[in-house]
Amino acid sequence: MLFYLMHIIHIITVILWIGGLAFVTMIVLPMAISTPDALQKVLMFQRVEHRFAKIARAYNLITGISGFIMVFLMGWHKLLFTRAGIPLTFMTMVWVFWFVMLFGLEPIIIRKMLDNMAKGGAKMDIDGVFRKLNKMHYFMVAISMAAVIAGVLTAHGPVALY
Ligand code: HEM
Repeated sequence: MLFYLMHIIHIITVILWIGGLAFVTMIVLPMAISTPDALQKVLMFQRVEHRFAKIARAYNLITGISGFIMVFLMGWHKLLFTRAGIPLTFMTMVWVFWFVMLFGLEPIIIRKMLDNMAKGGAKMDIDGVFRKLNKMHYFMVAISMAAVIAGVLTAHGPVALY
């Protein structure tokens, strides 16, 4: 029963989280990029990113807690870093990457970068920074999709047979 509940919470959170990330990547960032005024561009993206990063931290924690509860309920922690546990290990690694990004790098690096751009924008290559941000966001969508595939393999692949 607890396993099913955790599974439902895991999936709903992943949908909201990665769906939100895809929305920021495919809708918000291109809109910001096509805004001609540099200050407007930075402020628009900064406001969205600040709000989304806060919610994404909650999504990250809920996904991780529900995931680890499922793993320990099933005794699958023994599969971590084994051949049979490759999808589970991969999913966990992507989660760790996100944890570091959201709790470590985002508040320090990304936030500071956006603040600096908002203050002294004229001297910076803002378009270049936004192109990099766009690439980085597509990379994060891609590895999150890979984690989803790893999750499906964990739930319905060989690991589920253990
Ligand atoms: C980026 C983070 C993560 C994403 C995007 C993600 C995504 C998914 C998805 C889509 C499934 C498929 C469920 C199904 O097909 O029914 C799944 C299952 C699962 N996830 Fe994750 N997950 C993440 C992190 C984690 C973490 C950190 C753990 C724990 C170490 C974990 C443990 C599990 C387990 C045990 C299942 C299998 C559930 C079952 O057998 O029914 N996940 N995950």
